[in-house]
Amino acid sequence: MLVARKLPQAVEARLARDYDARFNSQDKVYSSDELIALAEGADAIIPCHTEKLTASVIARLPASVRAICSFSVGYDHIDLEAAKARGITVTNTPDVLSDATAEIAMLLMLGAARRAHEGALQIRTDSWAEWSAAHQLGIQVTGKRLGILGMGRVGQIMARRARGFDMQIHYYNRSRLASDLEFGAVYHDSVEALLPHCDFLSIHCPATPETHHLLNAERIALLPDGAVVINTARGAVVDDDALINALGSGKLFAAGLDVFNNEPNIDPRYKQLDNTFLLPHIGSATRETRDAMGFRALDNLDAIFSGGEPRDRLV
Ligand code: DGY
Repeated sequence: MLVARKLPQAVEARLARDYDARFNSQDKVYSSDELIALAEGADAIIPCHTEKLTASVIARLPASVRAICSFSVGYDHIDLEAAKARGITVTNTPDVLSDATAEIAMLLMLGAARRAHEGALQIRTDSWAEWSAAHQLGIQVTGKRLGILGMGRVGQIMARRARGFDMQIHYYNRSRLASDLEFGAVYHDSVEALLPHCDFLSIHCPATPETHHLLNAERIALLPDGAVVINTARGAVVDDDALINALGSGKLFAAGLDVFNNEPNIDPRYKQLDNTFLLPHIGSATRETRDAMGFRALDNLDAIFSGGEPRDRLV
């Protein structure tokens, strides 16, 4: 087994117990050439979303590779068609990171609305002059409308948590939820129909060719003035130029972002804006969740190599 990145201790211990595993103790992000060379003789690769398994990389993988069991729920880094064409089984790790990711979405929503980045900076730079009734006014979250773009596992948990703040939930999803799962959320049958109802917009859809730059200038214009955008899904869903322009012009009040195009070399303009609350792709970064992701990936691996059916087969 080629383990492309350093994984939690308990996960690596199980791998070492059950397989002949090649670990990455330095946690280096391998180039495609290095990954291909290291995969020589391996039956499977356990990548993270940092390993870009494009069609050309998959075409060059050694013939020994029969499975790619990703340590991630997202699979936009893997060309599924190319894997399928080579007869390589691909799995991901859904469910186990939904709570942790929804927690980060809540943190981003509250942090962006209440200008947490500016406040924290004032403390750390000793620039907090004095309390004042006009000091750093934010937007109240309680009772506002939250639009959820992609009402899958994470979106549904985000909706549940937001109801604790008396938020009214609106959503768009490719298919409408069964009414017993909506809990009063208002369904819109297109992204364009959803946007005018969003004081807060939280993105929870996967990155696919269809969702690439889904949030562009035209769609941002449909949001109410002063809306807040939250993204814990993938940077590719957002057109950076459009979002940065809208944050700079005051069209949007703020954005809370955990994911970006071209991570970790994100568009530097985000860092120059005061109204951005930015985190380094830590949606699933809790001890509990990272262990659970690893064990889920290994359950899939075990199923594949014991002749069973992996629970999370993508192809
Ligand atoms: C996921 O699992 O897709 C997270 O974004 C971390 O890779």
